[in-house]
Amino acid sequence: MGNSVSLPVFGPKQNVDIKEPSTINALNRTSSARQKLKHCIFRNSTGSKDNPNEEIDRLHSQHYLYRYAWEQISKFKSNFSAPVRERLIDGISVLDVGCGPGTWLLDMASTYPQSNFMGIDLFPQFPSEIKPNNCDFLTIDFLEGLPFDDGKFDFVHMRFINHVFTQKEWNERVIKELIRLTKPGGFLELMDVHVPHKDLPPKANLLSNILIAEMDRTNIWWDVTSHFESLLSAQQGLEGVTSQKKEHTLGVKGAQDGILFLEFYTQFMKIVYPQISKRTNIEPEEFYNEFMPKAIEEFNAKEYSPRIVSERVFAQKTA
Ligand SMILES: C[S@@+](CC[C@H](N)C(=O)[O-])C[C@H]1O[C@@H](n2cnc3c(N)ncnc32)[C@H](O)[C@@H]1O
Repeated sequence: MGNSVSLPVFGPKQNVDIKEPSTINALNRTSSARQKLKHCIFRNSTGSKDNPNEEIDRLHSQHYLYRYAWEQISKFKSNFSAPVRERLIDGISVLDVGCGPGTWLLDMASTYPQSNFMGIDLFPQFPSEIKPNNCDFLTIDFLEGLPFDDGKFDFVHMRFINHVFTQKEWNERVIKELIRLTKPGGFLELMDVHVPHKDLPPKANLLSNILIAEMDRTNIWWDVTSHFESLLSAQQGLEGVTSQKKEHTLGVKGAQDGILFLEFYTQFMKIVYPQISKRTNIEPEEFYNEFMPKAIEEFNAKEYSPRIVSERVFAQKTA
């Protein structure tokens, strides 16, 4: 893939071929990197035997789903909310932390060819060769600090990481390192979903409670999204902290968007099930053939109004 490839508006079924299977196969999750994620519920979520790239596919889908959802706020800001579009057009340096397979970066690098993009992740899930010239990746543990000078990046972005760090890590290392890497006058942006989702029907609620209990067991700060704004506001050296939220109804009551969000949520639950199967007391066959279809029916029942809230918070580093 080169710079000229334009990406579709919404991708789950459109097979965005931006991956290079041999290099980003999820089995690349080495045991030492996996060990570093020992308290992360997704540490083994590589995918099934039939589709070892299932988690990567899910992240690609998630990117296009949220880009589409946020496009309704502002066409130009669908991949971010900070006021950096003009700078991106002129050419700046951008960092994406915990970039996964790099879908956000590849999309951004194609859209803003004058800017340079760097993605870092604990696992090499991103393409090593087939990528735009203005996009690079590094395999590294963010908690060890990144090998970049202070203020190296004009725009520092991090999203969908709420299942990874403890409160202590967020407070003592994560936010401080993100600020250190941002250039004075540059912007920092965080994005994630709120956990738990609102008014979940019983079966989905059961899974959600198990996931939350798992994260509690290992001190993950799963509620961090609702603290993004206060976390950034409490930092010296940041100003203009701004939050934007989007709420989507899951299922047919949310029209076309709701159907897409429910499809995505179902995919997520299927991928995460092997991590929590022991705690559900539901055998795999029953889970996939009975529990899940019923869970989906519940989403569409009139008694519930299940909603998913995503939030972006951005701030500018003082000059
Ligand atoms: C749910 S994925 C989100 C990927 C990407 N941000 C996106 O929007 O698609 C979370 C990512 O965080 C990465 N991650 C977790 N802990 C990390 C760490 N300590 N350093 C770097 N990356 C980490 C995981 O490997 C995974 O790719």
